[in-house]
Amino acid sequence: MESEGGGSCCKCCFSFLITLGLTSLFLWLSLRTNEPKCYVGFFYVPALNQSLNTPSNSTIVFTVEFDNGNKDKGIRYDDVNVTFGVFLDPNRTRPIANHTIDGFYQGHQKNAKKQGSVEVHGGGLNGTAKVNGQTYFRVNFTTSVKYKILLWYTRRHSLWGGANVPVDNSGKKIGKKGIRLGHTIPVIVSDASRLAGCYCTLLILGLFVNFLFLDLFL
Ligand SMILES: *[C@@H]1O[C@H](CO)[C@@H](O)[C@H](O)[C@H]1NC(C)=O
Ligand SMILES: *[C@@H]1O[C@H](CO)[C@@H](O)[C@H](O)[C@H]1NC(C)=O
Ligand SMILES: *[C@@H]1O[C@H](CO)[C@@H](O)[C@H](O)[C@H]1NC(C)=O
Ligand SMILES: *[C@@H]1O[C@H](CO)[C@@H](O)[C@H](O)[C@H]1NC(C)=O
Repeated sequence: MESEGGGSCCKCCFSFLITLGLTSLFLWLSLRTNEPKCYVGFFYVPALNQSLNTPSNSTIVFTVEFDNGNKDKGIRYDDVNVTFGVFLDPNRTRPIANHTIDGFYQGHQKNAKKQGSVEVHGGGLNGTAKVNGQTYFRVNFTTSVKYKILLWYTRRHSLWGGANVPVDNSGKKIGKKGIRLGHTIPVIVSDASRLAGCYCTLLILGLFVNFLFLDLFL
């Protein structure tokens, strides 16, 4: 009798632990959140459009895109502060304008495109230097977001990022794809050193494979 009682208690205890484990796993899976991804989609500086010849135009027209990849969580954005700078050399930027995107709500798996334009203060575009033969702008943003899970909001999480945006002689951002506003530093890496970095990675990979083969066959 006693041993049977002990057995059922153990069983009970065991299934309680399993339930607890599964519940926490489920909770963890459903409470996990992914940060939204942000991009500069469109970026146009009329002053740099050489077929227009309007160097005193001080407007920048742009689109910032927000991508909520969460399957079942909405996102509430606070006001988004966007700042613009121009590169003076590969390591230095000068701030030229800022813009606020009003806070908004975004449903799950939705993409939001926010258009805007800014006026660059006091001759900010005068004598924009070319870096590696291109004019580069720096776009940064900061905001904070709350995730909506079922009916509830999480606490606020801060969200920030930036990107170096190259512009060609038509005043438009180079490349069709959006540029991710990620956690990059405002430094322009020349194509030459990027290539060197690539070769270096290949070299290390090659050495690794070599060692692997030596290990296997010798
Ligand atoms: C640059 O200006 C020309 C002449 O007005 C215009 O046709 C062209 O669309 C402009 N470029 C861009 C990228 O808007
Ligand atoms: C930018 O910084 C790098 C590394 O700190 C340095 O080697 C390079 O000379 C700098 N370039 C300019 C133009 O200041
Ligand atoms: C920018 O250029 C305009 C016209 O070329 C000039 O009037 C203005 O003084 C310049 N501003 C600065 C800050 O250099
Ligand atoms: C955005 O800018 C406003 C005013 O410039 C400021 O009050 C607010 O704290 C800023 N928000 C963030 C997240 O930096």
